[in-house]
Amino acid sequence: MVTLADWIPDPGLRAQAPSGASRLVSADGRQEQEVAGWLAGGPALVTGDNLAVLGQLTEAGYPLVQLIYIDPPYNTGNTFAYEDNRRTSEGSAATPQLRGLARRHTEWVAMMRPRLVAGARLLDRTGVIYASIDHNSVHVLRLLLDEVFGPDNFIAELSVSLNPKGRQLGAFFATSHEYLLVYAKDIRHCTLHPSSTEDVRPSDFPHEDEHGRYRLLPLRNTNKKFNPSTSPTLHYPLYGNAGTGQVSHEHFEGSATITPVFGDGQPAVWRWSAAKVAASRDQLQARVVRGRRGPRVDVYQKDRWSPERTKKMSSVWLSTQVGSTDSAVAELKEELGDVFESPKPVRLLRRILTTMPDDIRVLDFFAGSGTTAVAVETQNAADDGARQYLLVEDVRAPLPGSKAARGGYARVCDVTAARMRKSLQQHRPTEFLRVAELAPLPRPAEEPIEPPAATSKRNRRSM
Ligand SMILES: C[S@@+](CC[C@H](N)C(=O)[O-])C[C@H]1O[C@@H](n2cnc3c(N)ncnc32)[C@H](O)[C@@H]1O
Repeated sequence: MVTLADWIPDPGLRAQAPSGASRLVSADGRQEQEVAGWLAGGPALVTGDNLAVLGQLTEAGYPLVQLIYIDPPYNTGNTFAYEDNRRTSEGSAATPQLRGLARRHTEWVAMMRPRLVAGARLLDRTGVIYASIDHNSVHVLRLLLDEVFGPDNFIAELSVSLNPKGRQLGAFFATSHEYLLVYAKDIRHCTLHPSSTEDVRPSDFPHEDEHGRYRLLPLRNTNKKFNPSTSPTLHYPLYGNAGTGQVSHEHFEGSATITPVFGDGQPAVWRWSAAKVAASRDQLQARVVRGRRGPRVDVYQKDRWSPERTKKMSSVWLSTQVGSTDSAVAELKEELGDVFESPKPVRLLRRILTTMPDDIRVLDFFAGSGTTAVAVETQNAADDGARQYLLVEDVRAPLPGSKAARGGYARVCDVTAARMRKSLQQHRPTEFLRVAELAPLPRPAEEPIEPPAATSKRNRRSM
């Protein structure tokens, strides 16, 4: 069996923070201890290698965050503004298959692992991490997240349809989805609540009366674990008239006696107590059902639709709910220009945000074009939320030929900053973007080196 250990190279490769000690400084000269508090006070961007930045943020006392979103390079081999083709030598893997895997994944794992560890240190125990990834690396990232966060803190592997037409150039299947891996820092304290009003479709409530739309749910408990032996008080007769729909716990003129039964005729139980039926008769309806054993009268609950109704989110997120890669490019074009190859749609990030409380601190340390910042601003404006955010992006020059390079951006983080400022201007024109960077620590003053005393040939040999 292939284990994570096969892919994680020696510790030397893991320590990848850029060489030389550094510290956080703000653009206007604030120093480390002060700068962390200042960054926490409003929308913030830190430029530099995220491994070093996360370490410095922790050391400087940046407050813990409740949501981390990352969209790291997927290791696709494509030309983007940033490196997306990490490959390494085969190492000492035992079989040709393992050698192939090692070549493909080792260096990527070595890049991701310490960054996930550094990110996890900044995550509050109520918090969660969402990681975007595609089929190239989902299996590797899942193992890596299992290792860093613990398999017990795994929450979900969501399928996200970001390319509904499908990639027609692919072999065999037209890939139309990627993944979001979701892990808790500590599942026992996690405040994730993935339900939404958006997922409730009024058309799922096909009936209508003077009080509005509703659907019919059997009042009978359809789970066979619940039956007259396990729940004797819930097995009792009701009285109903299928013509008028009227239901009562007491006999009335024109009513038939209805006892709960499963489709195969076995005795069942109701979901409501007799007292609850007596108090809520107007929410019940008697109807004829045509079961396997012929027609019979059964009792249904009128389950009503309201605009506030929420529904648990499915593990499949559709482009109609989250947008698509095409819509994300169009959004960015509109806001800033065609300056980044792989932005995520703002709606995807907004949907993620709604799964957590509305006053959380959000961290994205593979910020790219800064979609996370735009999503927080837009969502705060929509629901009056008080979310704060900090993004981290590299200072490296965009790769030649990439959209950012052609757009004249000297560094990828300049794209991030430009979009974050635009979004702030639109949503909170009086607020400003706090920007900090990693600056090298001054080297300690060196002792002047005394020239060595002249030594005889004999002395030198004996040294
Ligand atoms: C896939 S993009 C993120 C796109 C982003 N979600 C968006 O919607 O625009 C990944 C980003 O991570 C950045 N990145 C890669 N390695 C990094 C590192 N070590 N430190 C900081 N940023 C890094 C890349 O420059 C790139 O902009």
